[in-house]
Amino acid sequence: MDAITNVCEYESLAKEKLTKMVYDYFASGAEDQWTLAENRNAFSRILFRPRILIDVSKIDITTSVLGFNISMPIMIAPTAMQKMAHPQGEYATARAASAAGTIMTLSSWSTSSVEEVASTGPGIRFFQLYVYKDRNVVTQLVKRAERAGFKAIALTVDTPRLGRRESDIKNRFVLPSYLTLKNFQGLDLGKMDKSNDSGLASYVAGQIDRALSWKDVKWLQTITSLPILVKGVLTAEDARLAVQAGVAGIIVSNHGARQLDYVPATISALEEVVKAAQGRIPVFLDGGVRRGTDVFKALALGASGIFIGRPVVFSLAVDGEAGVKKVLQMLRDEFELTMALSGCRSLKEITRNHIVTDWDAPHSLPAPRL
Ligand code: FNR
Repeated sequence: MDAITNVCEYESLAKEKLTKMVYDYFASGAEDQWTLAENRNAFSRILFRPRILIDVSKIDITTSVLGFNISMPIMIAPTAMQKMAHPQGEYATARAASAAGTIMTLSSWSTSSVEEVASTGPGIRFFQLYVYKDRNVVTQLVKRAERAGFKAIALTVDTPRLGRRESDIKNRFVLPSYLTLKNFQGLDLGKMDKSNDSGLASYVAGQIDRALSWKDVKWLQTITSLPILVKGVLTAEDARLAVQAGVAGIIVSNHGARQLDYVPATISALEEVVKAAQGRIPVFLDGGVRRGTDVFKALALGASGIFIGRPVVFSLAVDGEAGVKKVLQMLRDEFELTMALSGCRSLKEITRNHIVTDWDAPHSLPAPRL
């Protein structure tokens, strides 16, 4: 594994190791997968304006998120069913995150329970919540996460129904029978039935509440004292509503391009959300982050930190805990190097002037070659 020099290399190695059904589930986006490609492409349309002759012999990339000190602004997004990638699944991810001094977000649909993940040892962890129609299920789960020491709830708001992921439909994707959605095992909701299309889409249609609205955010605030992050905001309008609802933060996310196709790349939507939040609550981003330069670009556009999704499942598939550790280390090193080469010694020195985007003044980017 020493030969691996960047995060993207894990994907092809994972593809060789995993079954087609599992690889496709991890890799795919919705419908035409336009947004999936755009999540990456949009980063490549943002260029640097580096500053020179600044003493960069000392660089500090530490930060704090919701008051928790972490070693870098790079965190782990919730991805479901990690034991399909590796037998250690979420345990390995939790250990790797904690060793790297950063935050892991555990999916509601994990194949290890909140208690099991907590038992791996100390670490700052957030819990991602899907709201089930049965609110007793939600209340119990939130309370369990709280008791297990999770520090925040990331409420996913972009999934009233599951996006149309065509390979999952073709493969009749279903959670392998030796695994369960561990958090729901005792509630008789831990198994996924085979269906004529995606088993996950059917599960969502049966269990997840399509009626979820801002009222429920208020309700969630009454059942937990944990800070709530709203995951899946893409517009200024919703950012303003999130601030009004009194949430602790926003995650600009398009669910790794797995929900509504033809939404913009998250890096393209970030700035309008940041402006609408007016510094009242922190704004984070996930989607397509694969390089330290991507992390820098997100911070220059006002993000307080970023989360990675697929790089975790692919590195987990290839090399378990060591793989996830390596992904986090490579991103950390690349990000620190980007800071040095653009003349920034701390996160607060990263400014909007360190980058130029294709929506800035038209003359500032070279015209595309036809
Ligand atoms: C996800 N994502 C996700 N989000 C969520 O809120 N709950 C979940 O259970 C999952 N599960 C999940 C599984 C897989 C295989 C993927 C790829 C994604 C979305 C995830 O949290 C995040 O928004 C994206 O993965 C970020 O994009 P990248 O880094 O994968 O490009």
